[in-house]
Amino acid sequence: MNMNKTIEQRADALLHEMTLTEKIGQMCQLNASEGYAPDYLAEDLRLGRVGSVLNVNDVKIINELQRIAVEESRLGIPLLVGRDVIHGFKTIMPIPLGQAASWNPDIVREGARVAALEAAKSGINWTFAPMIDISRDARWGRIAESLGECVLLTSELAVAMVEGFQSDDLSEAGAIAACAKHFAGYGAVESGRDYATTNIPETKLRNVYLRPFKAAVDAGVSTLMTSFSDLNGVPATGNEFLLRQVLQNEWDYGGFVVSDWDSIRQLQVHGLTEDDKESAFEAASAGVDMEMAGDAYRHHLAGLVDDGRIDIDSIDSAVYRILLTKLRLGLFEKPFTDPEELPPLASKRALEAAQQAALQSVVMLKNDHGVLPLSASELTSVAVIGPLADAPYQQLGTWVFDGDEALSITPMHAIHSLVGHDLDVRYLRAMENSRSRVSESFDEAVEIAQSSDVTVLFLGEESILSGEAHSRADINLPGDQAELIRRIRETGKPVIAVILAGRPLTLTNIVDQVDAILYAWHPGTMGGPAIADLLFGLESPSGKLPATFPRVVGQIPIYYSQKNSGKPASWDNIAHIDEIDTRAPQTSLGMSAFHLDTHFTPLFPFGHGLSYASFHYQDIRASAGEIALGDTVTISAELTNTGSVPADEVVQLYVRDLVASVTRPVKELKGFRRERIEPGQTITVDFQLHTDDLSFFGRDMQRVTEPGEFHVWIGGSSETQLRTEFRIVAEG
Ligand code: NOJ
Repeated sequence: MNMNKTIEQRADALLHEMTLTEKIGQMCQLNASEGYAPDYLAEDLRLGRVGSVLNVNDVKIINELQRIAVEESRLGIPLLVGRDVIHGFKTIMPIPLGQAASWNPDIVREGARVAALEAAKSGINWTFAPMIDISRDARWGRIAESLGECVLLTSELAVAMVEGFQSDDLSEAGAIAACAKHFAGYGAVESGRDYATTNIPETKLRNVYLRPFKAAVDAGVSTLMTSFSDLNGVPATGNEFLLRQVLQNEWDYGGFVVSDWDSIRQLQVHGLTEDDKESAFEAASAGVDMEMAGDAYRHHLAGLVDDGRIDIDSIDSAVYRILLTKLRLGLFEKPFTDPEELPPLASKRALEAAQQAALQSVVMLKNDHGVLPLSASELTSVAVIGPLADAPYQQLGTWVFDGDEALSITPMHAIHSLVGHDLDVRYLRAMENSRSRVSESFDEAVEIAQSSDVTVLFLGEESILSGEAHSRADINLPGDQAELIRRIRETGKPVIAVILAGRPLTLTNIVDQVDAILYAWHPGTMGGPAIADLLFGLESPSGKLPATFPRVVGQIPIYYSQKNSGKPASWDNIAHIDEIDTRAPQTSLGMSAFHLDTHFTPLFPFGHGLSYASFHYQDIRASAGEIALGDTVTISAELTNTGSVPADEVVQLYVRDLVASVTRPVKELKGFRRERIEPGQTITVDFQLHTDDLSFFGRDMQRVTEPGEFHVWIGGSSETQLRTEFRIVAEG
């Protein structure tokens, strides 16, 4: 192949040499998880009938598969080797939802970089991440893999992840292609049941669900994966509106689209098609370039081309995109992996990245009377109790195909090494796992708690309770954990809960039973040292919630950027079920948007997270009271660390567009920044807002910024009340 040509010319030239079988081969991805290079696969590779494999992670096998593809097939096209490297490979970072709680793109970028370096060492050149489905339903198991509920936070962290995986140059050793998934709307599955249907009006789709994908596309993400779900009656894998109209025509996307696992054939199960041939037709017509782990393309695409139903141009366009990706990855020049060229697994850099990510992802939800941090010099003993204190695998969370639990440092071990020489650390698992209903160890737990100065309970969900196909209808702490807390509480000693979980749990039944809560998500390999440092005040907690915590499951979906409605709830127009007179006239019940049997507010709002420092915000101002369309306004405020320790604070900027041609959210995050602030120090935080940042898709599905009045807030959570205003006026 002529290396002096551009990659576009090279892809084109190659395409011209290909037979229809070879073209369709590029569009087929096979599962290769056998643990060896099976004969059938070798034969397919020789015949050019496979363009990609997934689920093989042994560098020797991958090199052998590449060798067959490159040396024994007619055109020698190397393979894309895909794998779910979601939040780490061997070294595991916190689950993506946890990483999102860091609100730190640098942390997220570095986590992805380290994961890419480790995965590339095995010959993997394509990850199925980032998962950027906006997730507003904590019942959905896949919220764990997401970056939370917010459009801006998800978009910025999605870009950071893409940059981390792909690096500046995809052909560099250790860079791998990323895949933004699942396109689109998967997070809106009904009642959080995985794979269920979604119904999303087009304005909401464009203003919420599609925006992180647009950000990833603009950042150069190599590939996109379709969603398993049905969107407004047309499953995403056969959805021409999504794949042709939006992705190709409007966004001019240059990468390629892969289906989800066998999701082309599932079009029949959805009831969209009669058989696999029609499924292949729908998917290919809609714009799915590669089929993952199915055989609808393999068996039927050629027939569909022969019948004249699928145009050869659309096959060529798919193959061209796939070839471009392989060329950008430099696979033609360097199809084989030499593991020695890449850093060792679980390197110092990787472990440090994992620890920093865990540290910044932990959210302190409450801390009554400053019970935290614990002081090793003032205590003599600490009880460490619970099923997740010493559970090396569970702390890794969902999607850890290659994660090595032997690398995990558990909180129990980390507490021992940090303070074990000063304090008596007494550990009891107390429950076999988080779901256990066997309470026979509870008496012993109470005894240990009783005789210790303080108890730290490690509770939550083990990793299997979240992730794909692991949705829950009841998101309280499972099993007998609430009972364990109640029993420990009776000792009268301080109780701290550290919760490891793959989703926001409903904590209403336990929140008043404990003095402090650290929410650690599934914190990954280095979760233990991060948690120990936070408990004992070597670092201050600085994570902020990337998703709203409901009081009860019936509040879902509850998220900060809700619409106002015509009858918004407020403290003076609500009633509570326990306080109403049975014969009261209906109009005395507030007549507003709330539930009678809970509050209208969440238990913990989006953006919430406490610190060992205390932060005071004041003096918010806009650089101008009025700006013209096309201009920028600067919003600033003074922020003081009024506490006694240095700490990071995540400063947040929210906006409301008061009047618009389609109703707008009561608050939308428009900026955020992590700042390190010394005790007594005051800093000015400022954010630039361009009028384009305030645009939205209106009734005609065009993006517009409408003149009018805007409210703007700065603060440490979405409940900030520190507000100012400005107006946008039409130019001239
Ligand atoms: C199904 C999941 O939905 C997707 O996210 C994943 O990447 C593929 N399986 C491959 O494992």
